[in-house]
Amino acid sequence: MKNAIAVMNTKGGVGKSTMVLGLAETLSTFEGKSVLVIDSDAQASVSSMLMSTAQLYELQSNGLTLVEYLVNAVLSNQIDDVKRYLVPNVSDVDDAHSVALFPSDVQLTLFEREVSHEQRHTQLRRAIADLLEQVRPLYDIILIDCPPGLSVLTESWLREADFHLTPTKPDYISSCGLEVFRRFKSLNPEMGFATNLGVVINMKDRMSPADDEYHNWLTQDADNRCFDIVIPRASPLQDAARFQLDERSYPAKYPGDAGKQMRALVSEVLRRVAEEPAAEEAKPETDDTQVSVEGEAPAEAELATDAASSEDGAELAENATPVADGAVDTPATGKAASSDAGNTVDSGGEPASTLRNAAE
Ligand SMILES: Nc1ncnc2c1ncn2[C@@H]1O[C@H](COP(=O)(O)OP(=O)(O)OP(=O)(O)O)[C@@H](O)[C@H]1O
Ligand SMILES: [Mg+2]
Repeated sequence: MKNAIAVMNTKGGVGKSTMVLGLAETLSTFEGKSVLVIDSDAQASVSSMLMSTAQLYELQSNGLTLVEYLVNAVLSNQIDDVKRYLVPNVSDVDDAHSVALFPSDVQLTLFEREVSHEQRHTQLRRAIADLLEQVRPLYDIILIDCPPGLSVLTESWLREADFHLTPTKPDYISSCGLEVFRRFKSLNPEMGFATNLGVVINMKDRMSPADDEYHNWLTQDADNRCFDIVIPRASPLQDAARFQLDERSYPAKYPGDAGKQMRALVSEVLRRVAEEPAAEEAKPETDDTQVSVEGEAPAEAELATDAASSEDGAELAENATPVADGAVDTPATGKAASSDAGNTVDSGGEPASTLRNAAE
């Protein structure tokens, strides 16, 4: 069963979490699909979009998040029954009853540091594979909300999920993010990678010639597999992020064009999932270094990957050499890197035992 989609872009703030939210609520309301949202971001953005702060806080306080599941599986070698962590019937849309959530917690960053510190990348990948194996038969669609950057955890999702979906803004720096991701993907092709479901242009400003130009440029590159539907910048989609304690109807949350666009996006996602029998497994990329971007980027001419480096982990991908078990190693430090741009929680050098104890 191929139904696990990692929603990712190395670039932050392109609308990944908002798109996961809209997809989940629309799949549930209009397609009658059961959907599991896995929040793999320490910021817990999509968790707080799908439930109240109080409910999320309670789950976090009781150790019922992805952090504890992964700490047990990876640092303590105990495989839990994943079902006890899945929260059914989240969302404030009254008809979106079939959305469930695997919530996140800020300590995910600390966990990732421990994985890198203890060189447990292989165990992490195995734990992610096992988790997906457990949940695939339970839901029609699984959406994984990844943080920006290319952390060891995100890499595991990208190698173990069936598909990846990439929202992007039609602008220069977001386009650089796609290029960084493409380079990363070409590392260790033999280790497998999710199939590219496509790039979704998000937050397009209808009145902006520059957005038009980048939109065209992104579409022309067939490797992007750009979706036909383009999601404009719209205030209902911005407001959708705020969870309301009183349930509301789908049209109240996604009025007018916002709802139409989300439904069109869902139709295209479902069509692509049905059409795609793991295309990239059948034809793995063979060249580790070649990056092919055809045509010229508008405005500032070619994509200079350097431009993206400070913000979205480009430096990591560009200088990266894969280590034996699939983590990405930065030559500068010699340590496996967790480039979770935007997630700046300092571990304070806490040992692995702190996390293990926290999970107990
Ligand atoms: N189509 C849209 N129109 C207007 N605002 C949007 C749209 N999509 C997302 N936003 C807004 O853009 C901001 C960033 O969105 P979001 O948090 O979903 O991005 P992200 O890629 O998940 O960010 P991060 O990389 O930090 O996880 C939020 O304020 C969100 O409400
Ligand atoms: Mg997000």
